[in-house]
Amino acid sequence: MLILGIETSCDETAAAIVKDGRRVLSGVVSSQDEIHSAYGGVVPELASRAHIKAVVPVMDRALEQAGVELKDLHGIAVTQGPGLVGSLLVGICTAKSMAAVTRLPLVGVNHLEAHIVVNFLSDDPPSFPFTALVVSGGHTNLYLVKDFLELDLLGQTRDDAAGEAFDKTAKLLGLGYPGGIIIDRMAGQGNPEAIAFPRAMMDADSLDFSFSGLKTAVITHLKKHPLDGPDVDRRTADLVASFQEAVVDVLVGKSLRAAKMNRTGSLVLAGGVAANSRLRQKIQTAAQEAGIRLFIPEIRLCTDNATGVAAMGFHLLSRGVRSDLDMDAYSRMPSRCIMRHL
Ligand code: KG4
Ligand code: ZN
Repeated sequence: MLILGIETSCDETAAAIVKDGRRVLSGVVSSQDEIHSAYGGVVPELASRAHIKAVVPVMDRALEQAGVELKDLHGIAVTQGPGLVGSLLVGICTAKSMAAVTRLPLVGVNHLEAHIVVNFLSDDPPSFPFTALVVSGGHTNLYLVKDFLELDLLGQTRDDAAGEAFDKTAKLLGLGYPGGIIIDRMAGQGNPEAIAFPRAMMDADSLDFSFSGLKTAVITHLKKHPLDGPDVDRRTADLVASFQEAVVDVLVGKSLRAAKMNRTGSLVLAGGVAANSRLRQKIQTAAQEAGIRLFIPEIRLCTDNATGVAAMGFHLLSRGVRSDLDMDAYSRMPSRCIMRHL
């Protein structure tokens, strides 16, 4: 089954063609970083407008790179939520139009499930059940994943998401946007033990997270130790390395605890923050020590893409799940299995 996936939930316009939820024929991503960097964050109205301009060319490129024509497709999958509603609607309207014209089946995909499912695009995919950490700009969620359509939410952030903490800290320090990748690069030059930032809820029984206190701790530190003087570059690097270490320690600690509690033996990482080099390094070591199998997508499949949307679309369509042409966008969207019980 050849599925076209479309993703426009935030500031990346993406399209992909995936065969049978496993083989990637093409994956095209058009980033809006240049548009939003001047504002230090995503401006929703500008994001929607940029999606409108980019979505058809991106889709055409995905079809062309895959060597596929519309008549070869078996279904269309599109991100339905969570995300920015104005942005989501651009992808959804495009997918609906395509489905109406081609009469192909259409299915709305949960963005977070699309992040997880890219782990199945490797030669050595995880087997169910497994523990998953989805860590992105809007979410920090831990799941027990029993099947493609069966996810139990075990914990989530009570305030800022981990990616949001990276982005807000970078903005605070005037480092630019998007903050995660900038901090990741700069932290490599710093000492992660220079400043003892708090590891919130690290010892609590709960699998929830909290990152807003860390942001406050950075602000308090800056008030006491302003970043100026001759060694400002080294001190900035030390600060971001120490900040990153605090985020990573909590993510690693909670994920490992969840995996041990679930007794699944496998831990899957997903979402933009899974691209973080320190997180990848520390979780690898911790998983190895605990005898837990770790799955992390290649970096370009951690950040927003349509490959996971097409793959998830396959799993939904092949189980008979369909969306109607009147499907809506959702800024908040629980997993399908949770929705079934609402
Ligand atoms: O999954 P994603 O592309 O979009 C959302 O669904 O939010 O994640 C974007 C988030 C942003 O907060 C970005 O700063 C963060 O992922 N990110 C990183 C890295 N690359 C992207 N955070 C830390 N280190 C990175 N290398
Ligand atoms: Zn995402």
